[in-house]
Amino acid sequence: MRKKLVVGNWKMNGSRAQNEGLLSGLLEEDVGGRIDVAVCPPFPYLEQVGRALAGARISLGAQNVSAFDAGAYTGEVSPSMLADLGCDWVIVGHSERRSLFGETDEVVAAKLRAALAAGLKPILCVGETLAQRECGEAEVVVGAQVASVVEALGVAAAAELVVAYEPVWAIGTGRVASPDQAQAMHRFIRGRLEAAGVAAAGVRILYGGSVSAESAPTLFAQPDIDGGLVGGASLVAAAFSEICRAAALVAA
Ligand code: PGA
Repeated sequence: MRKKLVVGNWKMNGSRAQNEGLLSGLLEEDVGGRIDVAVCPPFPYLEQVGRALAGARISLGAQNVSAFDAGAYTGEVSPSMLADLGCDWVIVGHSERRSLFGETDEVVAAKLRAALAAGLKPILCVGETLAQRECGEAEVVVGAQVASVVEALGVAAAAELVVAYEPVWAIGTGRVASPDQAQAMHRFIRGRLEAAGVAAAGVRILYGGSVSAESAPTLFAQPDIDGGLVGGASLVAAAFSEICRAAALVAA
């Protein structure tokens, strides 16, 4: 049985004062326990957030990581630095990184490899654009993203990943995938992993893209949806807590 996981991706939002308010709301709700919960603040706030979460049942993650471990890479943050700051998780290959910052499948694979080597748990993001879905290419695109990672990392390392299916058309748009659409793609991803020889039954596959307190219960009830990667709603303590409770309820 896969433990449900809910991850908050704060993206480039927050300030020390705002983070404090959000964190005190989350800690009051005490959402972890039966499920795994993590939040991913921007790099400069990792230490602040990590300190606030000490002893809590919410773990810390980052939104990006360098593929290199140390040296002359101005502006980069290495996997070992994230581990040093107390991160357990790191999001890799988010569609915003792919589309705005030119991350290719090769870069994504290199980052995953480096993150695993540092003992981090990477969350690999995959997903198709609206145009690709409308052309009937969603499975081809997502299948290729998954296959390139398995090929680069090998089946044992691929089994260590969490995968987040995030249809690009659903991210930040309020247009959430239907539970059937999401379940079908999650089933497809698990099948692809299986076919490549990865022990896919144990791989958690999260859904991301306009997850809200309203949409979470039916999404999380799908057999291949093991939790969520939550953007906008993770910035509101009450909404994020409600989403975590929805996951816990399904897990009960
Ligand atoms: P959203 O973002 O929940 O705001 O759609 C999800 C994500 O990009 O991870």
